[in-house]
Amino acid sequence: EETAKSGYDHYMLKEIHEQPRALRKCLRGRVDELTGSVDVEALKGLDPESVQFVACGTSYHAALYGAQALREAGVHAQAFLASEYATSPAPVGDDTLVVGITQSGETADTLSALREAERRNVETLAMTNVVGSTAARECDRTLFIRAGPEIGVAATKTFSSQVVACNLLAAALTERHDAREIVEALRDLPSQVQTILDDSRAAQVADRFVDSSGYFFVGRGYHHAVALEGALKLKEISYKHAEGFPAGELKHGPLALVTDETPVFALVTGNGGKATKTVGNVKEVEARDAPVVAVTDGASDVGRYADAVLEIPETHPRVAPVLANVQLQLVAYYIAKQLGRSIDKPRNLAKSVTVE
Ligand code: AGP
Repeated sequence: EETAKSGYDHYMLKEIHEQPRALRKCLRGRVDELTGSVDVEALKGLDPESVQFVACGTSYHAALYGAQALREAGVHAQAFLASEYATSPAPVGDDTLVVGITQSGETADTLSALREAERRNVETLAMTNVVGSTAARECDRTLFIRAGPEIGVAATKTFSSQVVACNLLAAALTERHDAREIVEALRDLPSQVQTILDDSRAAQVADRFVDSSGYFFVGRGYHHAVALEGALKLKEISYKHAEGFPAGELKHGPLALVTDETPVFALVTGNGGKATKTVGNVKEVEARDAPVVAVTDGASDVGRYADAVLEIPETHPRVAPVLANVQLQLVAYYIAKQLGRSIDKPRNLAKSVTVE
C-alpha cells in the first residue's frame, strides 16, 4: 500500500498531485488547438434541445458547472441531484439528453435517475471514470473522463476531469466565439495546476485556521460550484462544519453565522461585475470580524480585505474554478491532516454509494 501511495502520506494527496497528468489525458486527442474544435467520438451527432444533468455529491457540483457552461453556450440545461430527480421529474422532449455524471459509474441514485430517463425514452450519456461500470454499460453513450483510478473516498482529480469533460461537451454541442480561447486555456490548465501544487500556501492557511469553529465558502457563477465543493471536501475529511453559498445569498441568512471564529473563503477571479459584487460580500463579512481567505488571481482588489491569499494563475473565467478548487482541496487536506483524521477513509463514508 505504501508503494501504491508513491511516497505520499495519503492517496488523497497523491491524487491531488496527479491532476496535471489526469487533465492532459482527458484532453488528449480530443481538441484541435488551432480551431478550438472538439472531436470526441462519444459526442458525435449529438444535437439536443435541452440537457439535464443528474449526479450526487462532488459529481453534482461538476453538474452545476456543466449546466452553467451549456447555458452560456445557448443550450437549455439544468443540474439535478440524482436522488431528487424522480421525485419531481422535469419535462423532457424528443431531443432531451440526460447526462449522468458519476466517477464510479455505480452510484445507485445516479443509476436510478438514468434508468428513469431511459423509461421516458430519453437519450442518456454517462460521464464516468470507470470503463465497464454499470453507468457506462447502461447508457446510450459514454464519455470517459480518463482520470485514472481514484482510491481516496474524497473525490479530487475526478472532479477536475469532470469539469474539463463538461467543457468538451459544451464545445461539442455549440460553437462559441471564444471556443479557441477556452481550448487554449484548457491546454494550459495542467501546467497551471502544477504551479499551484508547487507553490501553494494552503498548508500555512490550514495551520492558521485549523481550530476555527466553522468555515464558509462563497463564490458567484462557476465559483458557486467550487464553493459547494470546497465545503463538501472539508467537511468530509476534517469532520468540521463547513458550508458553501452563492456569495449573494450570504446576506439572506448565513451572515448570522459569521463571526471572528468562522473563516470565509472567497473565490474571486477577474475584475468584472461578478468579482466586484463578491468583493462587496467580502467587505460585509470583514465588517463582522470574520477572517477572510481570498482565493484569487489578483485581478481584483479582494486581497486588500483578506487575512490570507491563496493565489491562482490568470486564465479564462471558464477554467479558473478548477484552479481555485485545487487550492481548496489542499486546504481541506492539510486541516484534516493536522486533526489526525482518517483522510482516505473518512468515518461513515464509502467510495461508491450503491444504495439509494
Ligand atoms: C466526494 O468527495 C464524495 N465522496 C461523494 O460526494 C461522491 O462524489 C458521490 O458519492 C458521487 O459519487 P460518483 O461520482 O461515483 O457517482
